[in-house]
Amino acid sequence: DASDIEKGTYPHYMLKEIDEQPLAIRKIIQQYRAEDGKLTIDPAIIDAVKAADRLYIIAAGTSYHAGLLGKQFIESLAKIPVEVHVASEFSYNMPLLSEKPLFIFITQSGETADSRAVLVQVKELGYPAITITNVPGSTLSREADYTLLLHAGPEIAVASTKAYTAQMAVLSILAEVTGRSKGYDSSFDLVHELGIIANAMEVVFEQKEELETIAREYLSTTRNAFFIGRGIDYYVGLEGALKLKEISYIQAEGFAGGELKHGTIALIEDGTPIIALATQESVNLSIRGNVKEVVARGANPCIISMKGLEMDGDRFIVPAVHELLTPLISVLPLQLISYYAALHRDCDVDKPRNLAKSVTVE
Ligand code: G6P
Repeated sequence: DASDIEKGTYPHYMLKEIDEQPLAIRKIIQQYRAEDGKLTIDPAIIDAVKAADRLYIIAAGTSYHAGLLGKQFIESLAKIPVEVHVASEFSYNMPLLSEKPLFIFITQSGETADSRAVLVQVKELGYPAITITNVPGSTLSREADYTLLLHAGPEIAVASTKAYTAQMAVLSILAEVTGRSKGYDSSFDLVHELGIIANAMEVVFEQKEELETIAREYLSTTRNAFFIGRGIDYYVGLEGALKLKEISYIQAEGFAGGELKHGTIALIEDGTPIIALATQESVNLSIRGNVKEVVARGANPCIISMKGLEMDGDRFIVPAVHELLTPLISVLPLQLISYYAALHRDCDVDKPRNLAKSVTVE
């Protein structure tokens, strides 16, 4: 059928879509670049963002995880406070809003009912909304005031991969352009840094065999797995755990490095896999301290670090990229480890049980 043709030589859409990430990043740079070489976004969108006293990011699933990183980008580059909310919670339990809120909906499909329910509420209240989506003309795109497109190409696999990195790239551009327009000198060239990301992604792909080995060693028979990180790495760990749960059915959870000892460490047994991310210089030593705590209880650690921060015994090292943008590269080994774990466990990678690509019921 037609879908076989689209998959080309790939055994699964998920692997194809993982591989398409450098292409998607380059496409985004191209689409958001003006003739003077600088990044640009519709001035009406930037004006709306600047007019707000607080941004509310609303999303579900993987898009919610991208939103958590979007908050980091916007707060550090544009200096506007951001809250990130799970759509299903927000629509039934709205928090106290600021005086001039702006809503940003992140949704690959543009059709998620939980997110749409919030958009409907927000429009009734008269607040402005932007939708960041992969699908032009989708419901959330049509019903919001503004749309920013992901340009990632169709995502077929239920487990989202290239949409996540594309969402982060577009959010970083929104943050940078807003910051520049507010007169902040961000002192880094985002076009250049995203170009480095695209190249670094290809370097990770050259090491797929190693990632398959890691998946086999750590995840082929385990019942559970934990992902830990601090700061930005924590949020990437949440996405790593979600990927693993979705397609391999291993019970996986992401935790802030320092929080594990406040309860969950009780679950650590001999051989429990702990996947730890170490891409942030400011917390490099403290996350390694957290790894020691769990190793002392028998955990089997797999440290994924970044070039320049690596230490003896690290299991996988991603190329160095700008410290704010590390999620765009550190998530790749997690996506691939999940993919191979699902294969080793004979799971249906592209169509996991109980899941739908877009959930159109509340
Ligand atoms: C479903 C999918 C997830 C996705 C979530 C949000 O649950 O299985 O992969 O992250 O919906 O989808 P959206 O299209 O709104 O990003």
